Amino acid sequence: HFSSTATQLARIQNVTIIGAGLMGSGIAQVSANAKLNVVLTDISEPALQKAQKSIDTSLRRVAKKKHADDAKAQEDLVQSTLKQLKMTTNLAEAVKEADLVIEAVVENIELKKKLFADVEKNAKKDAILTTNTSSLRLKDIGINLKNKANFGGLHFFNPVPVMKLLEVVRHDETSDETFKSLMEYGKVIGKTTVACKDTPGFIVNRLLVPYMFEALRMYERGDASKEDIDVGMKLGAGYPMGPFELGDYVGLDTVKFIMEGWAKQYPEEPAFRQSPLLSKLVAEGKLGRKTGEGFFKY
Ligand code: 3HC
Repeated sequence: HFSSTATQLARIQNVTIIGAGLMGSGIAQVSANAKLNVVLTDISEPALQKAQKSIDTSLRRVAKKKHADDAKAQEDLVQSTLKQLKMTTNLAEAVKEADLVIEAVVENIELKKKLFADVEKNAKKDAILTTNTSSLRLKDIGINLKNKANFGGLHFFNPVPVMKLLEVVRHDETSDETFKSLMEYGKVIGKTTVACKDTPGFIVNRLLVPYMFEALRMYERGDASKEDIDVGMKLGAGYPMGPFELGDYVGLDTVKFIMEGWAKQYPEEPAFRQSPLLSKLVAEGKLGRKTGEGFFKY
């Protein structure tokens, strides 16, 4: 006896993630942890090696939390998860068996358009193809796809193993069946899903990114210090990080890039204005934690 859920689950067993950066490795980790067969692919071998390391470290944190006083159970969790995970630089090979492909490469529209055309050529006909974009329109990314019904968005949050939300995005041509399978995948990996349309920033970033820019403008006007704004939002609004701390955590280049994309689509929208301070820091290579300095030094 197969329930409809079991049939849905069977729909997605093999997951391929393209792009072994921060997001891609997190997505690979949570998928492997859910006992799915995972392939992580990247054009760069060193990027895959780095991902392997960060997945290992992150898994050990998860294992420690789950099995606090049991070293063997911790090691079992780490090893059984790693067993589900393969890595390769060969894209065609990586997507061949995939039921679900999740693209998590840099936010470059031309690159993504070309990548999806390549993926469609090499993947199974009924594979579901998705993007983890945070700033580009699905409609534009998928423009070269022949089968647009099997295309959708899966937007994760950083750090992927910790943040409980998954935004499931449908564009005008995403089929109900594809959307349902994506919601089901979210459940399988233990995330809470929300349904989003193909609008700038979906739900979370559409609210979060303009808020971060408002904080920047408040600081640029000299109305409050960065430190006080961060303390204010942490202790007055219950956010785990203040807007400046969060910017440094996500990466200032990413934050700037998201806003640039939206401003191009909606030049009249005042909430999408750039910040001179942010642009200056990014030009100086001060991108946040990952470079040792952003709004703050690390
Ligand atoms: N892997 C596994 N576990 C991790 C982890 C990782 N990478 N990072 C943190 N953890 C675990 C820790 O082990 C810890 O577990 P414990 O509770 O058992 O001790 C728990 O998470 C909390 O971590 P820490 O104690 O180190 O630190 P904090 O309590 O300060 O939490 C945080 C860290 C979870 C990052 C928290 O500060 C937070 O939620 N910050 C806001 C993050 C956020 O807003 N993310 C969204 C950004 S927007 C985005 O991603 C969209 C994109 O499009 C830009």
